[in-house]
Parts: sequence; C-alpha cells; structure tokens
Amino acid sequence: MPIGFFDSGVGGLSILRYTITLLPSYDYIYIADSANCTWGERDNNFILNRSRQLTRFLAECGARLIVVACNSASTNVIDQLRVDFPELSFVGVEPGVKPASEITKNGRIAVLATRATSRGNKYIRTKEKHTQGKSVITVAAPELVNWVEHDREINFCRKAKLSEILDPAISFGADTLVLGCTHFPFLIEQIKACLPDEITVIDTGDAVARQVERLCKSLEIEHGSGKLRVFTSGDVGVASKLVAKLMCISHMECETIEK
Ligand code: DGL
Repeated sequence: MPIGFFDSGVGGLSILRYTITLLPSYDYIYIADSANCTWGERDNNFILNRSRQLTRFLAECGARLIVVACNSASTNVIDQLRVDFPELSFVGVEPGVKPASEITKNGRIAVLATRATSRGNKYIRTKEKHTQGKSVITVAAPELVNWVEHDREINFCRKAKLSEILDPAISFGADTLVLGCTHFPFLIEQIKACLPDEITVIDTGDAVARQVERLCKSLEIEHGSGKLRVFTSGDVGVASKLVAKLMCISHMECETIEK
C-alpha cells in the first residue's frame, strides 16, 4: 500500500526526501502537477478541483494516506478534502510559524510563501494562535517556485533578484525566516547566502515526515519494498532528470498523468 504525495510541481519532493530517509521501507507515489504550476497564483476553486483529481488518482493507486505536500493547497483546501474523502487520511504542510515563534529572540518573524498560502485559512488561524505578541510579515515569492521547477542556476542576476525578494524580511528586522513553500528548501543555501548570519531559516520537512511516521503506525500502513513512482502532468523527460537531481538518485523514469 503506497503513501501518496502531491504538489503543484516538484516542491513536495523536499518533504518526500525526509520521509523516505525516515521511512525507507514503505512504497511511495508522488504526483508533480508541473503543467499547472504555479498553484500559488491560482484561486481556491482551481486548487480544490485539482487537489480532488490528484487525490482520487492516488486513492485508485491504493493509497490510504495522502501527504498534501503543498502549502498553497494544505492551507486552503485540506479541510474540504477530509470531508470529500472520509475514507482517506491526510497529512498537510503549513508554514512553521509555531517553531519560529518558539525560537525568535526579537519577536519578528518573516514567512516566505506563495500568495495562496498568505490568504490560507489554516495559515491565518495558526498565526493567530501561535504568534501572539510577535510580529509576522509574509513575503510572496512566486519567482522562486519557477526557478526550482525550471532548474534555473542562481547566476549573478538571480542572486540580485533573490536579495530583492528577501529585502522586506531583512528591513522588517526579522531574526527568523520560515520557508513557507515546499519548493523553497531546494534553494535554502542560496537564500541563507543572501541573509545576515543572525537570521535563522526554518524548514519543517523533517517534522512533516515524523507526522507521516505517526500516522503510518496508527493506520497500520503496510510496509513495501521502498519503491518510488513519480507521475507528472508536465514533460516526462524533463521531470525525470529534475526529480533524479532533486532526490539525489542516479535514475528516475517519471510517468505521465493527465493535465
Ligand atoms: N510548493 C507549493 C507550496 O508549498 C506551491 C508552489 C506554487 O505552485 O505556487 O505552496
């Protein structure tokens, strides 16, 4: 019985890699909806309809546990998916404002996210609950999603653009920056290089993997043989190379899924 993952593109692999490291003996199916990326610039109707289609596909492949490896989808539509698919269990991701509020020293937190996540009910509720008395700024960075999707090198121009994107967080005086989109951990070194040393960067991929582990145990998900299948709505050849690179594996043959 595979564990299902989906995202608007390859970003959710940043969660999958932690999960496979922690739980190598399960089977996995990952869907990258790269033909429709970026979801962060889409409305909630689109995000919900596409999330339903991908969930249905994963369920037909035998998954009972689904990781919504996309902040834009988790913060806006995961509650509805739980209503629509009561027979399935879902793990969501959302910007790590809770750990950020525990470690910030000056009470100023910046969240780098998509526009869809900034308006997400779940994100707004978590912020209200866990950051009382602290100041939080949300910075939208859709360009970074495209850089990861298209495997763009961070050359001199992009470094300047990245500094410009991060500037509101630095000017705000944040001492903690949350990576609030699953694509961003693939740029963590480049992001850190543009920030003053005293800013701590938070990636919650390992915490999500531990939540998957708890659910695998409680749902008694059957172990497999560590098999990974990756589906993409984008170009299969391009995706295969990119997935292999991001997962640090020598070879991957992606399969196709309808746009
Ligand atoms: N990786 C996704 C997220 O965590 C979405 C990025 C996008 O498609 O805009 O929000």
